[in-house]
Amino acid sequence: MRFCKKSLVLVALVLSLIAATASIAAAEGFNDPQQYTATSTPSGPHGGYVSTSNKCKECHAVHLATGSYMLTRANTRAETCNFCHGVAGAGIGTKVALNEEGHGLSATQKNEENLIAPDDTVDPYTIQTSNWGCVECHSPHDNKTVKLAGNTTTKLLKQDPNQGKTYLYYNTSLINTSTKETTQTLSHWCSTCHNADFGLHTDPKQVLMSGTTQTAYGHAVSGSGYTTDTAGWAIVDPLDGINNGPTCRQCHTATGIGGKFPHSSESTSTGGSAVSTPDMLKSGSKATELDGICNGCHNTSSLQ
Ligand code: HEC
Ligand code: HEC
Ligand code: HEC
Ligand code: HEC
Ligand code: HEC
Ligand code: HEC
Repeated sequence: MRFCKKSLVLVALVLSLIAATASIAAAEGFNDPQQYTATSTPSGPHGGYVSTSNKCKECHAVHLATGSYMLTRANTRAETCNFCHGVAGAGIGTKVALNEEGHGLSATQKNEENLIAPDDTVDPYTIQTSNWGCVECHSPHDNKTVKLAGNTTTKLLKQDPNQGKTYLYYNTSLINTSTKETTQTLSHWCSTCHNADFGLHTDPKQVLMSGTTQTAYGHAVSGSGYTTDTAGWAIVDPLDGINNGPTCRQCHTATGIGGKFPHSSESTSTGGSAVSTPDMLKSGSKATELDGICNGCHNTSSLQ
C-alpha cells in the first residue's frame, strides 16, 4: 500500500513535469524562453539585435502566436511582460510586481477609466487604466532609451515617457544620441510625469487642484541628493537659492517585503504581518503618521 501510494505520487509528479514542459514547448511560434541566460548582454532578449542573434521570437511569434497583442503571448498591452517578469511567469527574468501603493492600480481603478499621475503640472499625464503598465516606462526593444547619470545600463527606460509634455526639469536634448547617456538623473526622469515634484521650494508650478489650475510649490528635490552634518542630520539651508534637497529615492525608499523601487511599496508591520506602506515611503510608514518620514532627516530639536 505504502509503496503504491509513493509511486503514484511519483507518477503524478513526473506527469505534471511533462505537462509543464509541454505547456512551454506548446508555444511553437516562440523561442525556448530559457535560451538566454540572465547574464547575457545586453540584458536578456532586450535590444542588441543583429543578424546572428535570435531574440525577436522570445517575445513575438511570426506564426502561431498565442496572444492577440502584437504577436506576443499576451492579449493586452498591459500583460506583455508577464510571461517572464510576472510573479508566476514561466520564462526567466527578474520578477516584478506593481502594487497599489507603488505604480500599480487599486481595485477600484481596474475598470476602464482615466488614470492621472499625481503631482503633474497641467495637462497631467493621463492614460486608460487598461493600458497602464510596464511599457509606459520601459521600451522592450531598448530603443529610444536613456542611460541616466549613475546607472550602468539604460534599464530600458524610455527617453520621453510622457510625450508631448513640456518638462520643467528633464531635457531630452541633453541625451547623447549614440551612447544614450545624459547628465540628468533618475529624479529628473521621474519628474516627466510628476512635473511638480522636482526643483527648489520656491519654483512655482501650475497644477490642477480641486478642478482649478493653481500655483503650487514643493519640498526641495534635486538630482544629486542631500548632505548631512556630523550627527547625520540633513544640512538645511533653504534660503541660499541652491537646491540641496533629497532625490526622489531618498524619501521614497520603498523598503520591506517586495518593496522594489519604483514598482511596489510593501513592508512588515511591527506585528510581523504584511502591510501596505503609502506612496512607496519607508517600511512601516502610515498615512496618518508621516512625521516619521521628516524626522529621518530633520533634527526636530533644532527647528526654529
Ligand atoms: C522582450 C520582448 C520583445 C522582444 C525580444 C521583441 N519585441 Fe517587439 N514588441 C514587444 C512588445 C511588448 C511590443 C508592444 C510595444 C508597445 O505596444 O508599446 C512590441 C512591438 C513590436 C512591433 C510593433 C510596434 C513597434 O514598436 O513598432 C514590432 C514591429 C516589433 N515589436 C518587432 C520586433 C522585432 C523585429 C524584434 C527583434 C529584432 C522584436 N520586436 C523583439 C516585445 C518584444
Ligand atoms: C522572453 C522573456 C522576457 C520577456 C517577455 C520580457 N523580458 Fe525583460 N528581461 C528578460 C531577461 C532574461 C532579462 C535579464 C535578466 C533580468 O534582469 O531580469 C530581462 C531584463 C529586463 C530589464 C532590466 C534591464 C537592465 O538593463 O537591467 C527590464 C527593465 C525589463 N527586462 C523589462 C521588460 C519589459 C518592460 C517587458 C515587457 C515589454 C519585458 N521585460 C519582457 C526576459 C524577458
Ligand atoms: C513608473 C515607471 C515604471 C513602470 C510602470 C515600470 N518600471 Fe520597471 N523600472 C523603472 C525604473 C525607474 C527602474 C530603474 C530603477 C533603478 O534605477 O533602480 C526600473 C527597473 C526595472 C528592472 C530592473 C530591476 C533592477 O533591479 O535592475 C526591471 C526588470 C523592470 N524595471 C521591469 C519592469 C516590469 C516587468 C514592469 C511592469 C510589471 C515595470 N518594470 C514597470 C520604472 C518603471
Ligand atoms: C522630502 C521627501 C520627499 C522627496 C524628496 C520626494 N517625495 Fe514624493 N512624497 C513624500 C511624502 C512624505 C509623500 C506622502 C505625503 C504626500 O502625499 O504629500 C509623497 C508623495 C508623493 C506622491 C503621491 C502624491 C499623491 O497625491 O498621491 C508622488 C506622485 C510623489 N511623492 C512623487 C515624487 C517624485 C517623483 C519625487 C522626485 C522628483 C519625490 N516624490 C520626491 C516625500 C518626498
Ligand atoms: C509614465 C509616467 C510616470 C513616470 C515616468 C513615473 N510615474 Fe509615478 N505615477 C504615475 C501614475 C500614472 C501614477 C498613479 C497610478 C499609480 O499609482 O499606479 C503614479 C504614482 C506615483 C506615486 C504614488 C503611488 C501611490 O499610489 O501611492 C509615487 C510615489 C510615484 N508615482 C513616484 C514616482 C517615481 C519616484 C518615479 C521615478 C522613478 C515615477 N513615479 C515615475 C506615472 C508615472
Ligand atoms: C531625505 C531627507 C529629508 C526628508 C525625509 C525630509 N526632508 Fe525636508 N529637507 C531636507 C533637506 C536636505 C532640505 C534642505 C534643502 C536645501 O537646503 O536646499 C530640506 C528642507 C526642508 C524645508 C525648507 C524648504 C525647502 O524645501 O528647502 C522644509 C519646510 C522641509 N524640509 C520640511 C520637510 C517635511 C515637512 C518633511 C516630511 C514630510 C521633510 N522635510 C522630509 C531633507 C529632508
